[in-house]
Amino acid sequence: MHPFSQFDRHNRLQHLITLEGLSSDQICDLLDRAEHYVRGPGQIPARSQALDGITVGNIFTEPSTRTRSSFELAARRLGGEVINLEIMLSSRVKGETILDTIYTLQAMAVDVFVIRDAEPGVGQFVATHVDDHVSVLSAGEAHLSHPTQGLLDALTIRQHKGSFADQVVAVVGDIRHSRVARSAYQVFRALNVGELRIVAPDGLMPDAGEMPGAVRFDTLEKGIAGADVIMMLRIQKERMQDAAIPEQSDYFARWGLTKNRLKLAKPNAIVMHPGPMNRDVEIASEVADGPQSVILKQVANGVAIRMAVLETVVANRKARQSSP
Ligand code: CP
Repeated sequence: MHPFSQFDRHNRLQHLITLEGLSSDQICDLLDRAEHYVRGPGQIPARSQALDGITVGNIFTEPSTRTRSSFELAARRLGGEVINLEIMLSSRVKGETILDTIYTLQAMAVDVFVIRDAEPGVGQFVATHVDDHVSVLSAGEAHLSHPTQGLLDALTIRQHKGSFADQVVAVVGDIRHSRVARSAYQVFRALNVGELRIVAPDGLMPDAGEMPGAVRFDTLEKGIAGADVIMMLRIQKERMQDAAIPEQSDYFARWGLTKNRLKLAKPNAIVMHPGPMNRDVEIASEVADGPQSVILKQVANGVAIRMAVLETVVANRKARQSSP
């Protein structure tokens, strides 16, 4: 075991567990690298051999469509190999620990572990135990962190708005239980977003003192008025006590983003959602599928961001090995 740091002794990114502590320059380097891999709809996806000889292991103990698929596509499009550990068919169900699972796969020459887990701290714990040449990337940690989602959200805003300093960004919905919101907060603060708003009903707002600098709103109408970017969030039922779960129709009536409510934002505002969406709960279909929605652009950018992160940690490993 060694102390945890995302950075190697030359201050290069080895692991990505959180966006906390990444500088604006480090974030922009990742966005620039990702931009290189972005292709339009119908175009042949970008490819390289940056991961030639590298094996990526996806270890997801929570469901995922976007993150798992895009990490897999990213690794393959960079010329790497991928294994997806099916947790329910793995020896974890026979009592094998996470660490023994990691050591087993590391012995098979898995070089990068992509981990999603409902428990806080798993990615960091694994990162303190793997060999020096191995990287650990978070694909979502409990309610705390989803760093590649934060990066793809920033990339999407930059593509549509050009800069961050003059933007009013409203993050709306179940912020309290959302790792997406926490990573969004970290990346938007690092990039000096003009005004960052968190907009939620009382029970779904983070504790006072969390997210300093964000402006709090307790109605959707006030929170999105004049906004350039609206990021809608799903109610994270899986992280709530039953009693706290709002009735869906009541929630939509007060907190659903409809076409009429969207008119309160700037006319060229973009609408984002990390997915999965619950249509007609937090967002109306006419908005999700409407002209201001960039939700599928976020999905496409997810592949490019994960390519950029994989390429970066593998390039840094090569640099470490050539000049230890
Ligand atoms: N945004 C996101 O993390 O989606 P998945 O749960 O489908 O990976």
